[in-house]
Order: sequence, then C-alpha cells, then structure tokens
Amino acid sequence: MDERQLALIQRLSDGCAHSGEAIARDVGLTRAAVWKTLRKTADEFGLELLSERGRGYRLATPLELLDAGRIRATLSDAGRKRLSRLDIHPVIDSTNRELMRLAAEGAPSGGVCLAERQTAGRGRRGREWVSPFGVNVYLSLLWRYPFAPSNLGGASLAIGAVLAEVLSELDIEGVALKWPNDLLWQRRKLAGLLLEVAGESQGPCHLVVGLGLNLRMTAGQGSAIDQPWASLEEALYGVMIERNVLVACLLEALLEALDRYGREGLAPFLPLWRAHDAYLGEPVRLLIGERVIEGIHAGVAEDGSLLLDTPDGRCAFQAGEVSLRPLETEHS
Ligand code: BTN
Repeated sequence: MDERQLALIQRLSDGCAHSGEAIARDVGLTRAAVWKTLRKTADEFGLELLSERGRGYRLATPLELLDAGRIRATLSDAGRKRLSRLDIHPVIDSTNRELMRLAAEGAPSGGVCLAERQTAGRGRRGREWVSPFGVNVYLSLLWRYPFAPSNLGGASLAIGAVLAEVLSELDIEGVALKWPNDLLWQRRKLAGLLLEVAGESQGPCHLVVGLGLNLRMTAGQGSAIDQPWASLEEALYGVMIERNVLVACLLEALLEALDRYGREGLAPFLPLWRAHDAYLGEPVRLLIGERVIEGIHAGVAEDGSLLLDTPDGRCAFQAGEVSLRPLETEHS
C-alpha cells in the first residue's frame, strides 16, 4: 500500500460521501486519477466502494483505523510503562514474523506490532490466518524472560485465560476457551493465539504472542476459513466497541500478564482458565498427528496439560487438537 492509497482510505474511513473534486485537491491527484486509484485500492483491500451521482465516493461500511495516539492515551500509566514500542502497519506479511525479527535485533520487552491487514498471517499448525483490511485485530507482543524456553509451557493457557477475562469484562457473554487457547463464542472460533519462542536452551529466551481476533469480518471476507467462526460484532449483538479502545484494553491486560507470568508462572491464571473451560465434562476427541484419543474432558492439570478420562483411566496430554465428539447417530 502506498502513502496515497492510505490517505484515500483514511479520507473515506468515516463512511460519508466525499466529492472527487475535494479528494483530488487534498491528495494531489487529477479527478480521473482519483477514481482509478480509489477503484484499485478498494479492489486490492477488499473494500466496498460506492459512487453516488452528484455526491462523490464513500465506503459502504465505515472503518475505524488503528491510531497509536488513541491507543496510548487509553492505556494506564502502568500499561504505558510496560510498552516499549507500538508499531502500526497498514499492510505487513505477519505481525508475529515482524516482531520475531525485531527481537532477533535486540528489541526489548514490551514491543507491540499491529496491522490493518496481513498478507501471510500465520495460524497454529502451519495454517493461514485470514487477515482482511481494517475489520479485525492482528496484534503481536514481545516479552523477554531470563529463564529457559521450557518454562513457557503454560504461557499459552495464561494468555488465553486473560483474554477470555478481558472479553467477559467488556460484557461479551459466553466467551469460552478450547484447550490450549482458542477463544470460542457459541462454539465458534472468535480468536486464536500463536506463541513463538526463541532463545538459549538454558535461557534467556523471548516470547512473541500473536493474537488474531475477529471483529466485524463479513461472511465473504471470512469465506476461506475452514472452521466455524464468530465475530465480536455478533457476540455484542451489533453494539460495537471502539476498535482502538478494545486494542488498548487487550494490550493493558496482555502486557501485565506477560510480566506476571515471568514472576509467578501459570498458577495464578489457572482459576481463570478453568472458569472459561468450553468442554468440561463433555465427550471430546484429541488428535495428535495421526493418533485419535477419545475421552471425557476433565479440565486442565496444574502444569496446563489437558486431562482426559479415557477407558484406560485419566491421562494428561501436552499437545494435540481438541474437538467435540459428535453424538453417535442411532440406527433403528
Ligand atoms: C490460531 O491458529 O488459532 C492462531 C492464530 C494467530 C493469528 C495472529 S494474527 C496476529 C499474529 N500474526 C500472525 O501471523 N499470526 C498471529
């Protein structure tokens, strides 16, 4: 995205009609070039552009673009102290990748990278994270620890638990956690976390936490997602929270949690995780590579592993993908 395209989107982000003449004057283009550039930008970024006779151009849906000033101003003093940098990219390959790169160059704890769109958003298990422009949250944070990477085994549950709590405090009812850290709403995926770790085997190490949270993605924009998904707009029944305020609330809680995890580990976060457990007591299936294990979901152990009651007794698992076991169909 070039500066001009970004300026055009910023100009139209309010959802009001803007005349071609006024846009041309402000952005320094001819009127014909305005139309061409707008059309190209809208196509490239999946935005619905309307042209209204005698009034000009407008976006079908207004956009609230990310604004570093607004985010910083919403953070508490403690939150601002923990934040060492706040980068906002209109377009990037992956915010996790960018922060891992900055970490390798020596960036300190508290680095944050946000994007309006990702062209190579990374999900867990090598999946793609669908990342259309301006409608969701793509956020990564960097934190450094003096200890070995093996101590970060519980971090993904701790972060998931904190996120579920932030969303519940924003009056989003029914947010639940699927082990280890998927956020569900009405059993559909609302947000995902990708944790990436690097460092010396005996420490120190650093962690990049990547959060993708669906806000107001349309069915068309999310059509490539291969599992049931939900958006925050749905979960809030249409009453949308300001996007920059939401990002500030998430950052505030995540930065504090990363700091606390370094001092106290997983233990203080476990009650929160358990309070949001999506499948407790339900029949589930755990996929570990080619292996399928069936059992009753018995919650999480103190070290964060998944507990399943199987015909062989209660077993703990450190990895795998959980899904609800479909009800047996009855044959007459
Ligand atoms: C999952 O598969 O559930 C994890 C998805 C994580 C997506 C986020 S979006 C911001 C950050 N940058 C990435 O490339 N991935 C994570």
